[in-house]
Amino acid sequence: MPDPIHDREHLSELVTHVAEAARDYLARVDQLPAGGTAGRDQAAGHFAGELPEDGDGSVATVTRLLTDGVQAAVNSAGPRFFHFVTGGSTPAALAADWLTSTLDNNAALWVSSPLGSKLEQVAIGWLKDLFGLPRSWGGVLTTGATMSNFTALAAARQWWGEEQGSNIAERGMSGLPAVPVMASGFIHASAEKALSMLGIGHKAVQLFTSDSTGAIDLAALALEGALVGLKGAPAIVIATAGEVNAGGFDPIAAMADLAHRHHAWLHVDGAFGLFARISPVTADLADGVELADSVIADGHKWLNVPYDCGFAFCRDARLLNAVFGMNAPYFPATEADHPDFLYLAPEMSRRARSLAVWATLAAYGRNGYRAMIERHRGLAKRLADQIRASSDFELLAEPRLNVVCFRYRPAGTPESELDQINRRLGQAIIADGTVYFGTTVYGGKVAFRPAIANWRTTERDVDIILDVARGLADR
Ligand SMILES: Cc1ncc(COP(=O)(O)O)c(C=O)c1O
Repeated sequence: MPDPIHDREHLSELVTHVAEAARDYLARVDQLPAGGTAGRDQAAGHFAGELPEDGDGSVATVTRLLTDGVQAAVNSAGPRFFHFVTGGSTPAALAADWLTSTLDNNAALWVSSPLGSKLEQVAIGWLKDLFGLPRSWGGVLTTGATMSNFTALAAARQWWGEEQGSNIAERGMSGLPAVPVMASGFIHASAEKALSMLGIGHKAVQLFTSDSTGAIDLAALALEGALVGLKGAPAIVIATAGEVNAGGFDPIAAMADLAHRHHAWLHVDGAFGLFARISPVTADLADGVELADSVIADGHKWLNVPYDCGFAFCRDARLLNAVFGMNAPYFPATEADHPDFLYLAPEMSRRARSLAVWATLAAYGRNGYRAMIERHRGLAKRLADQIRASSDFELLAEPRLNVVCFRYRPAGTPESELDQINRRLGQAIIADGTVYFGTTVYGGKVAFRPAIANWRTTERDVDIILDVARGLADR
């Protein structure tokens, strides 16, 4: 196939072909092994090869994706993929995402996509409402929590500079002191990565932990002492709502109070934990988020929109614009109520992610999300009860939200052997793929941490976890 212009005649056939394959796949995904087929790595290997001089044409190429491609995929869209914190795509979000690619609008400016821009404005407003954040805050869609941490911490860095009379967006950081950053041991690696990208450096983070799980002890006054030691110089404090290993929460309201009494910016990473605020059953966990200066969450986790999607919110939208604003003679002037989100976001050209975010919120509303969060929390507690009732598994932390941290502990096994046994079992679970989750280290112990975040997941999916793990351990 030479020039794509000659491919027009295949487009309809191709779209129908993929739609049919998707329909079949989605009808089966509940039953498929979460980790995909046993030959997944080999199937991925089939894609090796040189750049073709003459392409194979779209029909043959897409057919390869539907055969080898699907064989090489994991079934993370399904209900038994508990690795990391992985959401699926709700029907409304999936359909909207397809339309996003079909329309292929650039959500940089109103003029490049009135649809994408308006829906982003509406979606950001709805998300603030859903999470109980003040309406006056600014917000923007990103590719995920890492870029949201980057975006929000860039605003924090700008504030920190301005507090000392420097405009970092204009002049950089030359001549300025190191940025003091403080956090509990719950801080996620992506917030540290954001600090690396921002020239603050992840080694700048001072950790205040009271135990091996990373939890902070504010009563010990160490964080306050460090802030007092700055003698009024500005600082950044990072709190985590939903720690990745066991779903723990920093005491956000108290950290906000502390930060603001001592001239610090409070940033909250709530990649999945911010969703606790949707239900009165769990809202207390993330109490005080509205007092922070910046807050972020993920879309592709618990909102269940397709990859990739995240949100960054900032009390003072002017700071986002100070960092991410840009100008070029070919950009039109912003008109009232015609938002141009590129001025608040790291990228210039941007996928219109707002279609999926808007569609899923419009389709299911606050009550739909509340029901899902509460169902997932119930499933996490159900699994925890099964672990407690078993004689060969040990619960390592009471699940607060949707992450269950536990390990295999067959009777009579010495503590010194447990890490290795659990690591081996973790590899067997990944290789087997029936249910899918990996290991972490929690409180110094190798542990599992399945996270429930897919709209499809039910009791049937959670109830097989221990049996599958036990069966693999016995082999
Ligand atoms: C607390 C927290 N922050 C940030 C991230 C990074 O999210 P993403 O992979 O969407 O960038 C995660 C991912 O699990 C997380 O749990």
